[in-house]
Amino acid sequence: MSLTATLFRRPALGLVGAVAFVSVVYAHGEVTPQPVNTEALPDLGEEWLPENPYRNAEKEVWLAAIEIGASGYNQNCARCHGLGAVSGGLAPDLRYLEASDYGDEWYVERFVHGYTQNGVTKMPGFGDLLDQKAAWAIRTYVETRPDEGALDAHNDRLKQIRDQLAEWSNGTAADADGIAAVQAELAAIAEQVETASGAPIADSIAAKAARELGDSPESMKRAAETLTVGLSAAQ
Ligand code: HEC
Repeated sequence: MSLTATLFRRPALGLVGAVAFVSVVYAHGEVTPQPVNTEALPDLGEEWLPENPYRNAEKEVWLAAIEIGASGYNQNCARCHGLGAVSGGLAPDLRYLEASDYGDEWYVERFVHGYTQNGVTKMPGFGDLLDQKAAWAIRTYVETRPDEGALDAHNDRLKQIRDQLAEWSNGTAADADGIAAVQAELAAIAEQVETASGAPIADSIAAKAARELGDSPESMKRAAETLTVGLSAAQ
């Protein structure tokens, strides 16, 4: 049952009532898992691997896993585990699940079987509907989130860079050297950002903006937007 259908079928419910009703549905796990398109990822075979195969994969595969994992996470996990993997308290904060074989084993156990307590499904199992490519992509997204506050020390500078990029994208002259310098600075900031899971590389807004930034005004706009969204989410 979709959220819209729920609201339309219960027009008498006020907003507070509707939200409470929806969270009860989620808490019982009666939500259809959403398919995740994993075609862009290399095949992993049938048997579950003991460890996240994308953690130390080549950069292209790693990035594809994060992108696919972000979408899979948002559609299947965020309603309980929180947007951007930042838990609101309804379910554990997955950013802290150790990026190790122990953490991976636990992850697969919960992913495949979910969790039922006293006959109540607290988390639905996804094993029958999503394959392990989807599982590990979501895992990669979650474990590469920056640690809480990991960007705090860089917020002011990132804001300045955002403003600079916005100005450049509006046609104010930017030379190639200036762009390259900003890109290098973003990459340097990205390298200092740590994960809470212990995963080797964090995928922060600094890293994303550095990837997006190029010579075109569109790319500057996109990078500025990435910084804006990330900085406001961090407030
Ligand atoms: C209906 C709510 C709900 C949904 C949807 C949900 N979870 Fe959970 N999840 C929970 C709850 C509640 C727990 C805590 C269960 C327990 O006590 O072990 C949990 C636990 C976990 C754990 C163990 C965390 C730990 O630190 O012990 C993992 C891993 C996990 N979920 C992954 C996922 C993933 C990945 C998705 C999406 C594919 C997902 N969950 C979707 C509610 C949910």
